[in-house]
Amino acid sequence: MKVWKYHNPVDITFGWGSLSQLPKLLKGRRAVVVTFPQAKETGLLGQLQTFLGKQLAGVIDDVQPNPELSWVSGHYKEFWKHYADCVVVAVGGGSVLDSAKMFLPGVASADFAEIHAALASGQTPSVSRALPMIAVPTTAGTGSEVTPWATLWDRTSAQHQKYSLHLAQTWPEAALVDPELTLSLPAIVTRDSNLDALSHALEAIWNVNANPVSDGLALQAAQTVVRHLPALLDNPSSVPLRTLASQASLLAGLAFSNTKTALAHNISYEMTLKHGLTHGLACSFTLPMVWRLAWGKRADRDAVLQQVFGSHVADPASALDQFLGSVGVSSDFKAHGVTDEQASDMVARALQGPRGRNFVHTVEV
Ligand SMILES: [Fe+2]
Repeated sequence: MKVWKYHNPVDITFGWGSLSQLPKLLKGRRAVVVTFPQAKETGLLGQLQTFLGKQLAGVIDDVQPNPELSWVSGHYKEFWKHYADCVVVAVGGGSVLDSAKMFLPGVASADFAEIHAALASGQTPSVSRALPMIAVPTTAGTGSEVTPWATLWDRTSAQHQKYSLHLAQTWPEAALVDPELTLSLPAIVTRDSNLDALSHALEAIWNVNANPVSDGLALQAAQTVVRHLPALLDNPSSVPLRTLASQASLLAGLAFSNTKTALAHNISYEMTLKHGLTHGLACSFTLPMVWRLAWGKRADRDAVLQQVFGSHVADPASALDQFLGSVGVSSDFKAHGVTDEQASDMVARALQGPRGRNFVHTVEV
């Protein structure tokens, strides 16, 4: 029988209004807040300043969507100069959480170029010290609060490079998940981020690294999104539905923190870089196609996938297609500006990519 392990070191606090627990999680330490530009006008930054008082050492609030190498490089040295004794409190969506993770590893040169050079050559950077992080997601989708991964983009390079930073030091110390923070999200962000969570869940199931713990977490997350996202989009101020969406995101994050993602995410990177789709849309519109590729390859994976919509559903990939249509997402590449020929080339490339190789696309013998 196959040996498996599950490991996740992140301390989790979850609940409506739980942002007030932040000072408790800091245990007297100073904090630097990393957040998004609109945090000030929405009142979120003011709330954080009230909770943190004199413990707040500084704020970095110019994080942009999809973290850029140049942004991180421009901030890294100053960050370490001023905040080397701080806990990094990252408050925002996936881009904020990923950007904040870039600051956690400290290197001898105090220059991010050292980390970039290691990433570019496939080496592990030599980390001399590290900062702890408390991750506070403001969307229900990324799962980054319970994973060690951070995506970094370099659009200034000739090939538009994407890097994935993943070190023992980039696991958050704690995740503080307060669904109330998602209450004011625009409908499109609510939808796309929760579709990202659905993608994390399904990608953890059709994954060569799946295990019984990740399956249980992923299944619960996927069922929650397909059952409740349409209702949430109709009732965006519903406390129970917002709570379920955040819960699904967290559980999916816990699942893929051990399996990593798979084919849909590998395809998504090209859709984001070349076609400008948001991450949530880019990694979810292909899910019915990827489901059909996975289906019939491994009986144990089919058994878990079958439970997403229930055993009474004869064609679950079509049920997923209908679900996406019900929230306004087309699963057709052409609807996203990609021809059939380009799509099949993209899928073939993605299958060879690092995440694509996690996908269960061959029959197990
Ligand atoms: Fe994702």
